[in-house]
Amino acid sequence: MTSFTLPPLTLATSCPSDADVVVLGFADSAGRAVLVGLPKDLDKRVTKQFGRPLLDVARSLGATTNPGATVTLPGADGQRVIVVGLGEIDVTPEQVRRAAGSGLRTAAKLGGDRAVKVAVCLDAVEPEVIRGAAEGALLGSYSFVKVSGEQSPVAIASITVVSSSGKPEARRAVETARTVAAAVCLARDWVNTPANVLYPETFAEAARGAAKGLRLDVEVLDDKALERGGYGGLTAVGGGSSHGPRLVRLSYAPRGAKTHIALVGKGITFDTGGLNIKPGEGMFTMKNDMAGAAAVLAATRAIAELGLKVNVTCYAAMAENMPSGTAYRPSDVLTIFGGTTVENVNSDAEGRLVMADALVRAGRDNPDLIVDVATLTGAVVVALGERVAGLMASDDAAADRVLDAAETAGEAFWQLPIPDGTRAKLDSKVADLRSGGNRAGGALTAAAFLQTFVPEGVLWAHLDIAGPAFNEDAPYDYVPTGGTGTAVRTLVALAQSLQD
Ligand code: BES
Ligand code: MN
Ligand code: ZN
Repeated sequence: MTSFTLPPLTLATSCPSDADVVVLGFADSAGRAVLVGLPKDLDKRVTKQFGRPLLDVARSLGATTNPGATVTLPGADGQRVIVVGLGEIDVTPEQVRRAAGSGLRTAAKLGGDRAVKVAVCLDAVEPEVIRGAAEGALLGSYSFVKVSGEQSPVAIASITVVSSSGKPEARRAVETARTVAAAVCLARDWVNTPANVLYPETFAEAARGAAKGLRLDVEVLDDKALERGGYGGLTAVGGGSSHGPRLVRLSYAPRGAKTHIALVGKGITFDTGGLNIKPGEGMFTMKNDMAGAAAVLAATRAIAELGLKVNVTCYAAMAENMPSGTAYRPSDVLTIFGGTTVENVNSDAEGRLVMADALVRAGRDNPDLIVDVATLTGAVVVALGERVAGLMASDDAAADRVLDAAETAGEAFWQLPIPDGTRAKLDSKVADLRSGGNRAGGALTAAAFLQTFVPEGVLWAHLDIAGPAFNEDAPYDYVPTGGTGTAVRTLVALAQSLQD
């Protein structure tokens, strides 16, 4: 499996003179467009070489303050300057994260076969803004290394985030950004790896590898152990594939931590729809159907690496949903871990079955809060589009904790209800419940199904990331085409907010 290596990133109080590219902001301030982060020395050199200040050069070359818009200008002495629109001058960390991402994506195209040294000058002073600049820059540098192992030339040699703050908090912010960005890129790599390379067995081994060197215990249940253990969801869904299912459990228990969160992720390494086979165009991107598992595993790695004082158990439910002579059928009745029987109405509603096994198992660890992450339904994409994930929860207390963390992390979630009566749509004549209802409110019925496997009284939030987990369109901000690493930053921010 190939993996992306983050460029080295440092923090400096002034713009390094050997930078090949300088990224600056352009923002609206009281009705005027102003450059943000412009080093005085750079402006002097530009004025000397071109006979007018950088602001004039930027204007004449069509720079705008529109968020994400970039214009590349000649700097002095062969240096190049990228001016990135920031919108209004009073920026949030997320606006800075986006601008830095756009800046780095533009910079990556400038070097040709020579990697460029980039300075990010966005006038970041507060630790959250410094973190945003560093995260955005690292995430914007991402590219997927071809499966052939062919070395695509490294585009970014190094990144320097320039900040007038030399405080220890500023350094810590950069360290945190590096750890979090590495985890997001790990999740992206896993999602982008095709399903003939990444399947339950190899995914589980990769998860084990990612836990190495950290205070994480790893346990992997293979197909035989799952069958013996009564994990009927994973066994049924994985039964159609020659690559057997796996359940990976990571546990992180730092000294002194009292609060315990469980993270549960959907890890369908490829979703053909099974016997309810998907049409070609709907199937093509289904290597992304393990993005929830990728997110919880990568986030757990980051939480352990940061040494956050909170207990975490992480479950990744891995299976490949294939049609074959051993595939599970519509109308089959399966027994989920713990004994609940489920009538399978549609073999393409496989995610909730593997999640049910993992949720019941997670409940046995007595967590205070369970957060599950899954590319669960097409319905949530119809409802919220490709850039917003759905959030459904046991109550507003659980929802608000996750929404607050998402806000801090700069990820977009929108709460959807689980209306009274939704569970009743899942009544079955032959089992404890059916796996699906009708077409109406598909994301909500899926959530109601999952909720029946969460122990009474435990706070629970369900993140349906089917929309934003995979970007089929052109890159934007710090988001590349392909796997995005959605939910990693929110889960880390949640763990940060729950520390004892
Ligand atoms: N993996 C899909 C959901 C999905 C759709 C993820 C689009 C990412 C992008 C899921 O397993 C699925 O097929 N869901 C069905 C459920 C239905 C059969 C009840 C769906 O949404 O159509
Ligand atoms: Mn499916
Ligand atoms: Zn699926």
